[in-house]
Amino acid sequence: MTLTTQFTELVGCMVPIQCAGMGTASPLLAVEVAKAGGLGMLSGVMMTAEQLETVFADVQANTTGSIGTNFLIPFLEDESVIDVAAKHSRLVDFFYGDPDTNLVQRVHDGGALVGWQVGTVREAILAEKVGCDIVILQGVEAGGHVRGTRGLLTMMADVLDAVACPIVAAGGIGTPRAVAMALAAGAAAVRIGTRFAATPESGFHPDYIDALIDADGEDTVYTEKFSVGWEAPHRVLSRSVEAAAKLPEGIIGEVEIGGQQIEVPRYSVFSPLDTATGKVNAMAQYAGQGVSAIKSCEPAADILRQLAEGAETILKADAERLNQMLS
Ligand SMILES: Cc1cc2nc3c(=O)[nH]c(=O)nc-3n(C[C@H](O)[C@H](O)[C@H](O)COP(=O)(O)O)c2cc1C
Repeated sequence: MTLTTQFTELVGCMVPIQCAGMGTASPLLAVEVAKAGGLGMLSGVMMTAEQLETVFADVQANTTGSIGTNFLIPFLEDESVIDVAAKHSRLVDFFYGDPDTNLVQRVHDGGALVGWQVGTVREAILAEKVGCDIVILQGVEAGGHVRGTRGLLTMMADVLDAVACPIVAAGGIGTPRAVAMALAAGAAAVRIGTRFAATPESGFHPDYIDALIDADGEDTVYTEKFSVGWEAPHRVLSRSVEAAAKLPEGIIGEVEIGGQQIEVPRYSVFSPLDTATGKVNAMAQYAGQGVSAIKSCEPAADILRQLAEGAETILKADAERLNQMLS
């Protein structure tokens, strides 16, 4: 199965689907997505250069597929971790900071392509100007931390007129129809977070995954509630905000990150991994408006295949319809 776009040709994957780097999610998710033909993404958040080297050694022993690395600018302290990422990745992408010429140059010098996830037309133009190879456009529909303030489709229409490099569409995409729509509208690929969070490989807590399965597209909220550790807007399941509001201030549980037990205060930025203890339902349960696509906890490779094959079928039918319309 192949769906060839500028994106697949640049990053060397089979289908134009990028799994979002998701902070503390397991590297196994990146491996499974890469093996199935998408772009699997590791996260460099809270990692030293040595730790990231170790992760890459493990990942590369398990797949020769396309792997990238994501960095969140507010958590980027020691930039030497970028050199490790660039040495081993097809694409290094950044989020939540103004596009930066020095970071772009550093990644290019290390041999990888650079992407920047942006949330406005102005930021998309700047990303291209500083030398990014790919611009990831995030709409306000997205799960996790949200830079976008507008709906994806209207913003994409403006960005496609303003920027020449390939655009990856992000936010609320979870079904084959949504993938097909983004590609038909001009995106070179889609970036998906929430749908891949509900997989056995993501490492997220089963109660969080169950909550994603239960939720509809109307059950998410754009908020700044979970701001302990990082003050920035985000989209979560409404019920996690409601559950947190019912608890008193203080520690509500623990999560294990990089072998360390970390206490989670109420309204902490940390989402629950499967090792989390305490009030998991009141921790940040990030989710985008495409959450209604999640009907069960499925292997990432199965989701990737369904999305790519389904989108291909829809695009072929649409091409016939459009040809008739234009003839
Ligand atoms: C659980 C979760 C964690 C996320 N963590 C990150 C992150 O560490 N870095 C990043 O660039 N984006 C992160 N995002 C946002 C994604 O890059 C992407 O914009 C978003 O997932 C797209 O919307 P969707 O979740 O509706 O597919 C995260 C999203 C989710 C759902």
